[in-house]
Amino acid sequence: MRTDTGQTVSLADYRPTDFVLERVDLTFELDPAATKVESRLIFHRRDGVSPDAPLWLDGDELSLTALAVDQTPVPEHAYTVQSNGLTITGLPGSGAFEVMITTIIAPQANTKLMGLYRTSGVYCTQCEADGFRRITYFPDRPDVLAVYTVTIMADKATAPLLLSNGNRLGGGDLGDGRHFATWFDPHPKPCYLFALVAGDLGVIEEPFVTRSGRNVALKIYVEHGKEPRAAYAMDALKRSMRWDEDVFGCEYDLDIFMIVAVSDFNMGAMENKGLNIFNDKYVLADPETATDTDYALIEAIIAHEYFHNWTGNRITCRDWFQLCLKEGLTVYRDHEFSADQRSRAVKRIAEVRHLKAEQFPEDAGPLAHPVRPQQYREINNFYTTTVYEKGSEVTRMIATLVGPEAFKAGMDLYFARHDGQAATVEDFVACFEETSGRDLTQFSLWYSQAGTPHITVETNFDADARTFTLSLAQAVKPTPGQSEKAAMHIPLRLALLNAHGESLPLKVAADADITGDVLHLTETKQRIVFENLSGSPILSINRGFSAPVTLIQSQSPAELALIAGHETDLYARWQALTDLAMPTLMAASTGDTASPDPLLIETLLAIAADDALESAFSALALTLPSEADIARAIGANTDPDAIRTARQATLKAVANAGASLFDDLFTTMATPGPFTPDAQSAGKRALRAVALTYLTAADGTPDRAAQAFADANNMTDLSQALNLLVHTFPNSSEAKSALDTFATRFGDNPLVIDKWFVAQATIPGPDTLARVQALLNHPLFNRNNPNRLRSLIGTFAFSNPTGLHRADGKAYDFLVDQILEIDRRNPQVAARILTSLRSWRQLEPVRGQKAQAALARLASARPLSNDVSDIVERILEG
Ligand code: TRP
Ligand code: ZN
Repeated sequence: MRTDTGQTVSLADYRPTDFVLERVDLTFELDPAATKVESRLIFHRRDGVSPDAPLWLDGDELSLTALAVDQTPVPEHAYTVQSNGLTITGLPGSGAFEVMITTIIAPQANTKLMGLYRTSGVYCTQCEADGFRRITYFPDRPDVLAVYTVTIMADKATAPLLLSNGNRLGGGDLGDGRHFATWFDPHPKPCYLFALVAGDLGVIEEPFVTRSGRNVALKIYVEHGKEPRAAYAMDALKRSMRWDEDVFGCEYDLDIFMIVAVSDFNMGAMENKGLNIFNDKYVLADPETATDTDYALIEAIIAHEYFHNWTGNRITCRDWFQLCLKEGLTVYRDHEFSADQRSRAVKRIAEVRHLKAEQFPEDAGPLAHPVRPQQYREINNFYTTTVYEKGSEVTRMIATLVGPEAFKAGMDLYFARHDGQAATVEDFVACFEETSGRDLTQFSLWYSQAGTPHITVETNFDADARTFTLSLAQAVKPTPGQSEKAAMHIPLRLALLNAHGESLPLKVAADADITGDVLHLTETKQRIVFENLSGSPILSINRGFSAPVTLIQSQSPAELALIAGHETDLYARWQALTDLAMPTLMAASTGDTASPDPLLIETLLAIAADDALESAFSALALTLPSEADIARAIGANTDPDAIRTARQATLKAVANAGASLFDDLFTTMATPGPFTPDAQSAGKRALRAVALTYLTAADGTPDRAAQAFADANNMTDLSQALNLLVHTFPNSSEAKSALDTFATRFGDNPLVIDKWFVAQATIPGPDTLARVQALLNHPLFNRNNPNRLRSLIGTFAFSNPTGLHRADGKAYDFLVDQILEIDRRNPQVAARILTSLRSWRQLEPVRGQKAQAALARLASARPLSNDVSDIVERILEG
């Protein structure tokens, strides 16, 4: 499967390799400009493969300096080097043989950050998905598993630390100012899990004893001087390890577990066996520099990568089409972990918000693809919210459908049956079919059918028959390459509430498709009759967001207010509030001067006044739908400026009605004493921040925010005050001075300066483009660092609707220029930022035409990476 030539790879074309790889022996002689990689691979021909079949090895930007089979140089006529790989012919027809390959690579010139590269003077690797072929010629596919021995030689002074996967066998001095270390990883693994780190780093260490008594040395490596900022990550790691033992029965399997934090990284982190490599943003934290959100993300990502040890590493993927097998499942596991560590309900609401904001638009646009895609041109473009987050929702639905016992048994079966293998989605699903006895054939459409199902909900109460009839209809809109959609198996949790908000018993006919509170929607149209009801109940459906669907339902404001005020499922309360607020916000955004429904204000203020609620929940509940949420609800022809004005007006109306309540909250939610990152304190800070936002809207002056900025003694409060000030009063002297103060105070900390770039890149309105352009030349900006690019350009593109969608289209041109420029160095980052333009067809015609023109210019520019051309072509076609 060759992926770097612009051709399409299809799931249907999968076949195993002709040769089985038995062992891998790698020797690195590290040098920034010319690293020598010697690879010894032991292969044998697979049974039944023709004795003259050649061996294909993937390669990318390699320089081959030696090639031998069984110690004998391969004659020139017996091999061919192409830009994407190497073919060797004339190999032994039977028995094992050794291929020795020497390549030269230049880590310091590697700006793509795939393969072996340099970051802040440290050598590090990123091999997923197809970066290993940038190190040496190799069968670079996840179904080729082997045991690795790795020797690293490097300069002693600049690289005292030499790390790879597994356990360290030994090392020593080479006598010429260099030294070496040898590592052995006993667990067979695909090459995408290979890692190497060499450099000079500080470390924190802690012991961990697994439940069966294995002693594990935990080590987190960071830049010298930053060790104290890794303490929270270490704590999160230990909690993750214990949790995985307790909840999934998964125990760690080596004597050492290492995490290395690097400052140049294309994504969040990587689960290399025994040697995770992290974007330092997801390791480093202290109260002065990290927000509550940063702490929560560190906890979640540390857990995610650790959990991959079983879901991804011990059991890996047969091919990249199965990516959700490890990613969706591992996200599900990290979601469950965070839910257990923090508040389950608040975590669930945050997940749903994220899914609706990121994945629903993906599923509704030109980049829509199934959780398990059927083809790809560039696999790196499929690390998407659909594969990750919708993949997690699909796993969650399996748990809902089969119930907790069969789910646990199914996971146990999966681990037992497929340990050491490269598995498929079918293998995974089969485990739950076996433990539950349920047929999951129709359910499996969730893996193959793209698009968010829309469910129309209609109800009818018959007072004479005392029955409540629920009529459901499901439909999925066409997505690229899939015009026809079949009916899916959709698990919908539901409750019927009485006028006091109490749950009523669900009495249905014996043959109704409902188990407990889970209704199985399997037909295009389905009808369920609930019996024995004395009055018309209020329906609360898709409780806990049991299925990732859009409901089309018209409930009265009174019904929504009842759910928002009384449901025991907090997710349902939050959703009802959103549904209550949306009509006003939508009407006001499309020219109507509708003032907010009094019931909305009343319900919001009741929540603000209810001190029995968790503060983190109240904070979410009191936050109005975002501008992007409103735009999505309107759908087509959206005007970002009108949406902003409408939302601000509603904010002000609520604020005016509840000024004294918000004043109280601002005082009572203060967290005196030293900062602690626990969920409860974070919830208080979040609620206090919401109160400050309302108070500022009511008051119309920068005073309170400026005061909060001056008073803040932690980064959460400080950055919230900064954002509020800068976004609401961008041209005030208070905003300017806060920005200056912030830059002076944190100018030496790039991760904090990212927050300064984010605050400015998200200032609403057409003037922000000029500001972003100016910031590109700021001394604190660095074009080569993905975090800087994302915080300034990425944030402007993804999170500033009024800035990006300037009516004159100038921001589209700017973005395209930037993407072209970034693409020359780092195609992955360029392609990711480009996806921000995927919804251009939903813009009103003037903007839409300008966005299209900018995209067309990008599509015809040369050179263009495979990453960017894949995305731009799909965006324009779909
Ligand atoms: N597997 C990583 C994860 O845990 C994702 C990842 C990290 C990645 N770096 C990457 C994917 C580079 C593609 C390219 O989710
Ligand atoms: Zn992952």
